[in-house]
Amino acid sequence: MESLYAQQLLVPPYLQPGNASTLSKEQRVLIWQTDSVPGSFSANYSLHRLSDTTKMLSAAISNVELKLKGKATRLYRAVLDGLLFDTLYYYEVRVNSKSIANDSFRTRTKKSSTRFAVMGDFGAGTSQQAAIGYRIVQQKPQFVVTTGDNVYFNGLEEEYRKNLFPYYLSLGNIPAKGASLMNTIPFYMVLGNHDVRSDSLNKERGSFAYFYYNDLPLNAPIMISGSRKLVKAFKRNTSPRFPGMSNFSFDDGNVHITCLDTNDNVNPLDPILVDWLMRDTGQSKADWKIVVFHRPGFSSSIAHYGEQLMRLLSPLFEKLEVNLVLTGHVHNYQRSVPLLFAPLKNKRGDHYIISHKGEVDGTFTLDTTFDGSTDTTPEGIIYIVTGSGGGRLYDSNLNQKPELWKREPKDNWAPFTQKFISNKHSFTLIETKGKELSLQQIDLTGKVIDQIKITQ
Ligand SMILES: [Fe+2]
Repeated sequence: MESLYAQQLLVPPYLQPGNASTLSKEQRVLIWQTDSVPGSFSANYSLHRLSDTTKMLSAAISNVELKLKGKATRLYRAVLDGLLFDTLYYYEVRVNSKSIANDSFRTRTKKSSTRFAVMGDFGAGTSQQAAIGYRIVQQKPQFVVTTGDNVYFNGLEEEYRKNLFPYYLSLGNIPAKGASLMNTIPFYMVLGNHDVRSDSLNKERGSFAYFYYNDLPLNAPIMISGSRKLVKAFKRNTSPRFPGMSNFSFDDGNVHITCLDTNDNVNPLDPILVDWLMRDTGQSKADWKIVVFHRPGFSSSIAHYGEQLMRLLSPLFEKLEVNLVLTGHVHNYQRSVPLLFAPLKNKRGDHYIISHKGEVDGTFTLDTTFDGSTDTTPEGIIYIVTGSGGGRLYDSNLNQKPELWKREPKDNWAPFTQKFISNKHSFTLIETKGKELSLQQIDLTGKVIDQIKITQ
């Protein structure tokens, strides 16, 4: 905590992508939080170092008083609009005349390439999380996408301040402490089950901090429940970020990334969601289509094995020509062979069958010849679990032991897992260059523990 003139800075300024999804408009949002004492803030940005005051642009700043739990605070947002693509900008945030942030960022690219990091299940307040943050910054990604469980255990405001910001908004890049990431690149945070512990405002108001701390593209639908009064107040404070933000998509370079909410209140086959996926992901002209969500449909871990509802969307993903699905929830790393999956239907053929545990049986078609080095053309979608970004690891005894990956026999499991690393924390680095995509899994010491190439 840093002391300003009259107020305490609880969270220093960090960058968010803002409501910019396609490559037609570019924006960034700076967010910071203080105690409840209002301050006179300014946020300026420029193509040049900020010593050149003549060419500075000033960002529109708004703030809300936040009282999710305990003491009231103030959350500020500065919208940096009208940005050019492929451009380096400098920014500075001041209170009165004192500078509280002075940094730079690069906007999204329109080139046919991109480079980004993916991590999941990380905001646990651990030294491993710090080391992963440090390794990510070494790789110089253009942005970070998360696979959810951004903060443990209940998505609360105080948990973000304890388990997330100190690690990725650290003053220096030190393996034991974390990295200076969120002040220079945007995080696209996907909702995990620990990020919204309830779908009702009546039960836990504080667990909706996600909608305050993030500022993401608003191009998809979703719903919320709770008493009219609470819903109204919440929507007033978070508008327009809620409820649109829990599903979203964006483009960067030649990649289209679709992020989905897989919490219990969501029906993956909701016609509104399916319709949006067809229009959004289906009509994208990007070279690469990647879908990101928290709960994996295909995992050979014992942990969370039965939570397979997202398998129901596989036929749609296949139709929309999705290349890669990135998930978390299971705290390890798993890579599937390219696969096609047809969920089992009832006798009349009008409903998919889901067991009471959430298991979805079906027919697997596995591409067992793809190895990502000599054969790089997959027949089907590659499903990745990348949930080892900082939380306690799951099923470490299954590490690299295919004989232990066999789960339910027959229609529920097939030998779809090609790689399973569960004894170390790691993250995913994805790079595209035209019709070539490379995926590396990098552990907390910086070592590449898995890699594949995909070509089209
Ligand atoms: Fe989870």
